[in-house]
Amino acid sequence: MADEDPQEQARDPVGLVLTPEAIEQRVDEIAKQIARDYAGRSPILISVLKGSTFFLADLVRRIDLPVRLDFIAITSYGEGAHSGVVRILKDLSMSIENEDVILVEDIIDTGLTVTYLLATLQARRPRSLEVCGLLDKSVRRIIEVPLKYKGFDIPDEFVIGYGLDFQGRYRNLRGIIGVRDMDALNTDAEALVAPYV
Ligand code: IMP
Ligand code: MG
Repeated sequence: MADEDPQEQARDPVGLVLTPEAIEQRVDEIAKQIARDYAGRSPILISVLKGSTFFLADLVRRIDLPVRLDFIAITSYGEGAHSGVVRILKDLSMSIENEDVILVEDIIDTGLTVTYLLATLQARRPRSLEVCGLLDKSVRRIIEVPLKYKGFDIPDEFVIGYGLDFQGRYRNLRGIIGVRDMDALNTDAEALVAPYV
């Protein structure tokens, strides 16, 4: 990475980097903001399996309120990964009627997934409903998303780590990295493991 030869840089497989320390600091700030905004209340934080669970777990441990948690699992289907057609694989285990709800997402990309989830949750008549997203890839947005709590704006790069995966791998990286060389990953899904954990 320290090599300044432009050809070496062109082959650099890694783009954006968010260190575990940078993530921790931002998560702490968001948690404090949520604690202030929901003072005296007991919001339900809903995480979308599986990617957002890492963010949720760190976030709630820094919110000084009697929060409750729930989980929802979805799958995208239809034409391509960004069809916006989503099916619930595992539903919430509690009622959110008249509750303060915060939907916690790892990344908002086109916005289609969150938009579907918000419609589904809104139909259950929560008292309030907000979105908290760690990463915002806003350049790719197709539908505007009301993102009340945001961690980081990121460029249009495929990112892995801290819950985000490529074919199920890399969720356990402590930081987040942008993948420049998608060909390497498409050839071998585990191509990046060793140097970046
Ligand atoms: P959206 O519906 O396009 O906003 O997509 C959101 C979902 O796509 C996220 O919850 C992730 O599961 C996945 N996704 C989008 N971008 C990335 C990425 O850069 N890395 C890993 N997963 C991603
Ligand atoms: Mg996700």
